[in-house]
Amino acid sequence: MIEIDGITKIYGETPVVDNVTLTVDPGTICVVVGTSGSGKTTLMRMINRLVEPTSGTIRIDGEDTRNVPAYELRRRIGYAIQGHGLFPHRSVGQNIATVPKLLGWDKPRIANRVDELMDLFQLDPAQFRDRLPNELSGGQQQRVGVARALAAEPNILLMDEPYGALDPVIRAKAQEDLLAIQRRFKTTIVLVTHDMEEAIHLGSKIAVMDKGKLLQYDVPQQIIARPATPFVAELIGTSERPFRLLSLGRVADHIEPGEATGTPLDAGVSLRDAYAELLWSGRPALPVTRDGAVVGQVTLAQLSRLAARPQ
Ligand SMILES: Nc1ncnc2c1ncn2[C@@H]1O[C@H](COP(=O)(O)OP(=O)(O)O)[C@@H](O)[C@H]1O
Ligand SMILES: [Mg+2]
Repeated sequence: MIEIDGITKIYGETPVVDNVTLTVDPGTICVVVGTSGSGKTTLMRMINRLVEPTSGTIRIDGEDTRNVPAYELRRRIGYAIQGHGLFPHRSVGQNIATVPKLLGWDKPRIANRVDELMDLFQLDPAQFRDRLPNELSGGQQQRVGVARALAAEPNILLMDEPYGALDPVIRAKAQEDLLAIQRRFKTTIVLVTHDMEEAIHLGSKIAVMDKGKLLQYDVPQQIIARPATPFVAELIGTSERPFRLLSLGRVADHIEPGEATGTPLDAGVSLRDAYAELLWSGRPALPVTRDGAVVGQVTLAQLSRLAARPQ
């Protein structure tokens, strides 16, 4: 658990992070979203003390981070940044091994961990282990960056706009991979982005920042349905609200009895995708399948109700 309590950072006269308080529960993803210059990176870097707070307290699992040496904190907390930040003259394997080496793991353990992570991120160790970062695609480099951040099995992973440089298809894939890895390792993640779509997709909770202040901290559903300020509403995008609400749900939870005709939808798809398919099919309902077998239908009428402003 990360407890950020009244944290402030002042540069010169300006508070760039202004009295922010929030708690990140273990095994959840907190997405910090806001426009450029709102203080997201500074807030995140105070968690691993790359930036020292001017005032306030941060506790990790109850322990005040001021009582932990900064270097130790940085070994304990994974950190992945936009443009990956890999060491250009070290191989992929050496990059991933950075922190385990600092921690003095023995060679076989490091080698095992490197291969395990490369498998996890779908990079064949035999093919990629000895390559230099510039011999990889942008998406592959990004995966190595996250693998490196996870190498020493940290409970906490900080990610600063990790997918900002990726094209949309690779980005979507990277987001799915992250969710899968997070579920598997139960890592507590704080992720910074300026993209509300990404925040809604990944966040267990979303922290909206503006000019150093925390405007709202809540689950995506509430951020969409009840934005705390006009600025939050603007970030969500007025005309996007119904679709963003739908994107939070899965067809599996809204299957109705009945036998629709048309191309079936899998129960795992998002309600937003289902809505698009329904509109595109021109039908009022489509069959829903689970593991290939039809289990009911999803209807346009039902999705219209679910997309409406919550009362
Ligand atoms: N080391 C620094 N010295 C002075 N000002 C800084 C420093 N780091 C960041 N800032 C300022 O703090 C504000 C917030 O920066 P940052 O946390 O990087 O925002 P974000 O990540 O949301 O874009 C910006 O106005 C930036 O110029
Ligand atoms: Mg930033």
